[in-house]
Amino acid sequence: MKTLTAKKTAPKKVVDAELTDVTQVLHHDHQTVAEMFFQYSELEEDDLEAKDELAKTIVKELFVHAKVEEEIVYPAVRKSADDSEDMMDEADTEHHIVKLLMAEISQMKAGDDHFDSKVCVLGELVNHHVQEEEKEIFEELRAADLDLEKLGKQVIARKGELSKKTLPKDLSVATSSRPASKK
Ligand SMILES: [Fe+2]
Ligand SMILES: [Fe+2]
Repeated sequence: MKTLTAKKTAPKKVVDAELTDVTQVLHHDHQTVAEMFFQYSELEEDDLEAKDELAKTIVKELFVHAKVEEEIVYPAVRKSADDSEDMMDEADTEHHIVKLLMAEISQMKAGDDHFDSKVCVLGELVNHHVQEEEKEIFEELRAADLDLEKLGKQVIARKGELSKKTLPKDLSVATSSRPASKK
């Protein structure tokens, strides 16, 4: 029977001194989550404890990652690129859909009806979002007149704060990275 190892449960920490360009920091998170979804798919069908633990870790990791993007990265892209509104609205909407599924999963336990399929579809949605984000949004970030190192440090610091907090009860809140005046 397969069991989770420490390597499998603990997301790698983004602390490398050279890993402060915001695109590197986010890419590192994307890889961490992709690895966790793969680990989930490799778990034994009846290893409910490991499934529960890993699904919760995935939801927490995704919540923190999405939050720092919505608070720091997406507003920076919107501000620096006038024609980015449609792209960023789509990214917000993808975050929102992902959170609806995360909210459901966080209310369930492994072994419940459709639990595995919800985790699997969550992984597919996240993968789709990440592909577009790394292609289109990262391109805007690199083209913009932004200090990517400074943004990366802000993201790392905020991730540190959020990681210590417990998840909010309702993860399915509406998502918008638009400035308040335009909402
Ligand atoms: Fe995102
Ligand atoms: Fe992302």
